[in-house]
Amino acid sequence: MMAPVDAFRTVDRLRIEAEGLCVDYNGTVALYDAGLCLKSGCICGLVGMNGAGKSTLFKALMGFIRPSRGIIRINGLPVAKAQREQAVAYVPQSEGIDCSFPVSVWDVVMMGRYGSMNLLRIPRESDRAAVRHALERVELLDLRDRPIGSLSGGQRKRTFLARAIAQRASVLLLDEPFNGVDVRTEKLMAQLFLQFRDEGRTILISTHDLSHVRDFCDLVVLINKTVLAYGETSEVFTPENIAMTFGGLPPNLITGPASSEELD
Ligand SMILES: Nc1ncnc2c1ncn2[C@@H]1O[C@H](COP(=O)(O)OP(=O)(O)O)[C@@H](O)[C@H]1O
Ligand SMILES: [Mg+2]
Repeated sequence: MMAPVDAFRTVDRLRIEAEGLCVDYNGTVALYDAGLCLKSGCICGLVGMNGAGKSTLFKALMGFIRPSRGIIRINGLPVAKAQREQAVAYVPQSEGIDCSFPVSVWDVVMMGRYGSMNLLRIPRESDRAAVRHALERVELLDLRDRPIGSLSGGQRKRTFLARAIAQRASVLLLDEPFNGVDVRTEKLMAQLFLQFRDEGRTILISTHDLSHVRDFCDLVVLINKTVLAYGETSEVFTPENIAMTFGGLPPNLITGPASSEELD
């Protein structure tokens, strides 16, 4: 049986807690004193220029890189423990898979079940049902036997989303999921994110497209090596804050809209 609709909801449970994170690559600072806190059942946009540290933050939350300072908790657990519990699914910016590798869509999604299988990794009927259900949700069941390398960018992104669904992760980290995808995939992903939120999952999405933030992100984190502003989209996603994030200028140095003078 599939999980009930609100399977991931836990009252006011904190899904992601990060505090005072510092990450450097051989002395070059990528993140400094960065922090955020996300409850269950929300969609948060992560917005910043190229090189602002978005992918670095995702990798730290996944435990791929170790911050030099700071604390991370996922569902109240240290990163390694949350990983063991398969709590977090990650869709990287470039999928990090060799696309000439002869693995099918079905196999990639089945990888989401590995954490709950025994060492021999022999799928049970429940695993096959979970994979089928996940592929249906991303509208890819008809392509299940296709090698991953033969898919379009959008289909590949949907495959990785299906893997996250099959994994039953409560936290989804999506690094630029809309890059290079077709309109159909974009719409489907936006719908899925809203459903995931209603199921009580927490979704952190980095994006360059500011309209996505306005359309479906409840919260937004603006970053440039540190968290510049963070909170409800309606309060934080202001022209001043956006200009600060992309222009690197403090708000008092940003001139108002050019049209205001023209209107006089
Ligand atoms: N593996 C790495 N080695 C050295 N520097 C890196 C590495 N990965 C990222 N950086 C640097 O860290 C900073 C943040 O990068 P990144 O997190 O990829 O930013 P974003 O995803 O926002 O574009 C950049 O200055 C980038 O050049
Ligand atoms: Mg990046």
